[in-house]
Amino acid sequence: MDAAMVDRLATGEGWALLQSLPAYDESTALQLQEKLREAFDSDLVAAAMAQSRLRARAVDKFGDFAAGMLFTPDGLEQATRLSLAARHAHRFAAAGLREVYDLGCGIGADAMAFAGLDLVVRAVDSDAATARIAAINLRHWPSARVTHARADEVRLPLGEAARHLGLWLDPARRVSGVADHRGRTRRVFSLDAISPTWDEVQAFAARTPATGAKLSPSFPHAALPDGAEAQWSSWHGEVLECVVWWGPLASQPGRTAAVCSARATHVVSEADAAPAADEPPLPSVTAIREWLYEPDRAVIRAGLTGALVAAVDGTELGTGVGYVTSPAAYDLPWARRYRVLEAMPLSPKALSRWLRDHGHDRVTIKKRGVTLDADLLRRQLKMTGRGKGGSEATLVVTRVAGAQVALVVTPA
Ligand SMILES: C[S@@+](CC[C@H](N)C(=O)[O-])C[C@H]1O[C@@H](n2cnc3c(N)ncnc32)[C@H](O)[C@@H]1O
Repeated sequence: MDAAMVDRLATGEGWALLQSLPAYDESTALQLQEKLREAFDSDLVAAAMAQSRLRARAVDKFGDFAAGMLFTPDGLEQATRLSLAARHAHRFAAAGLREVYDLGCGIGADAMAFAGLDLVVRAVDSDAATARIAAINLRHWPSARVTHARADEVRLPLGEAARHLGLWLDPARRVSGVADHRGRTRRVFSLDAISPTWDEVQAFAARTPATGAKLSPSFPHAALPDGAEAQWSSWHGEVLECVVWWGPLASQPGRTAAVCSARATHVVSEADAAPAADEPPLPSVTAIREWLYEPDRAVIRAGLTGALVAAVDGTELGTGVGYVTSPAAYDLPWARRYRVLEAMPLSPKALSRWLRDHGHDRVTIKKRGVTLDADLLRRQLKMTGRGKGGSEATLVVTRVAGAQVALVVTPA
């Protein structure tokens, strides 16, 4: 959708049409589109129907706000979930900042959260249609301003005017150009390929100390600048981002993990972790204790399994594996606990016998730290679920002292 069509959709007849559409229903969309073409031109109808479809998808991230917003497929895909955007905004507000320059604002999800906390928003986006959309999504906050510009064209305030200034960058991880059939473009992974690049982001942070930058969860630990904080955040178990915070926005330098859900947020940091050197590795599968713990993925991405080791007074099964065993039961909001029913070296024959003897005819396989074809193992175990009323077992296949092991566990 180009900027002119955004303008048509956002005003007069276009907006009235969009707001009059019923809740999007794929099964009746074509029929509705045909009918609307009798009264409106086909380009406007196509754009309105595309928006209606995007709004339906956007409810997951934006709840009721989606019904008053505009999107592009890429913009929605890359937009920050509103609950995480609110956490970003809270950092700026808590640091006493008053104005945030959002340098690559996309459809404006983070910018909306900044404005919602009464921060003055100056947003730019290098894509004309996206900038128009962000302006529409920010229309409820008169002090927010959106400009079509590249980040490096922005003239940032200097001196006293910059005293309460913060910068936010959420570099694009998609290349503009050929889109797939859903209108989404190709993803990029390297820090040099994002836009603005990681070098450019760091240059902004060197100029304005209160800077935050949202990056992919695959952000390499070694790239974390001295004194900055990298926080990996998960939402209901899915790791969505790693945000690097500089200066007054860094709550604690180093790596942290925020385990977020609609109910609560739990932050885990390096200060919570047992020093790795203190931990002798687990010598063999027979040393696995009654309980197995699996940290939230944000904790794993942040390299903070050591915090779980410390919290449950346990031992990691293998370096970097992410599973921890302990003789004691703890309830942690950022880790799952399983009771270990059996632990053995991985031998399909012995495992199959154990599972049958215990009345199982199907398995859920969880694997970590091993290369394993789970379907092949399921066939080798003959756990196809076609038995006579057997039950399902949960199998963890992982590594202890360099060898593959299988644990039969039950969630506790
Ligand atoms: C990941 S999206 C931002 C998403 C946004 N934080 C949100 O939550 O809605 C990145 C945006 O940066 C824009 N962009 C890429 N390079 C840019 C540059 N050099 N200057 C300004 N904007 C840029 C892209 O057009 C894209 O809309």
